[in-house]
Amino acid sequence: MRDMHCHILPGVDDGAQNMEESLAMFAAARKAGVTSITCTPHCRDPYFDYLGMWRSFRSFEAEVHRVDPTFPLQMGFEVNYRKLMHLGLAWAERLHFDGSNEFLLELSANASPTRFGDYERTIFELQGMGYDVIIAHPERYDAVQRDIGLAQELVNMGCKLQASADFIKGGRFGREKRPAIKMFKEGLYTYIASDAHYPAHYTYLRQAVAKWGE
Ligand SMILES: [Fe+2]
Repeated sequence: MRDMHCHILPGVDDGAQNMEESLAMFAAARKAGVTSITCTPHCRDPYFDYLGMWRSFRSFEAEVHRVDPTFPLQMGFEVNYRKLMHLGLAWAERLHFDGSNEFLLELSANASPTRFGDYERTIFELQGMGYDVIIAHPERYDAVQRDIGLAQELVNMGCKLQASADFIKGGRFGREKRPAIKMFKEGLYTYIASDAHYPAHYTYLRQAVAKWGE
């Protein structure tokens, strides 16, 4: 099982604070059945430090490969829409998943439905640049919680949707379970990821995949 969204890198965002925590998360991931990991630190204020995040990835990779020399690790970012607008779309080539054309885009949790019109233009631009746009945790966005038709529109635009596994216990804000279940029933999701910030998130991943995974 691939985990393609997690905050496992040490000391770069609100996930693992040091290598010890990163390795505890890695152990939990393996125990949950994860066989490859894409590391996706936050590309948003106040966390984003491109070179620092890459340095963190390299040291994590070295430690992981001491435990398991062939474990597949990939560098990526969870790119916040507003931050991407500040940086400019030229940054996309540094922010997609390293070695693939996948691009993990986080929208604003409290954006109004009209804001989705702005997202649409950016998503089409990214797709025009050759990226496969993956929308992080749509179940967390207010507008989608009120109307999952917006999630359907994202899928119609060619986006893939990623559920964050903690929806099974309500999610980050406690309102994600119902919309997530609706979207699973509608077949709107392509991925379940841990979005792990600490080891227990991998227990949620195992439970969510057991119930809703393929
Ligand atoms: Fe995340």
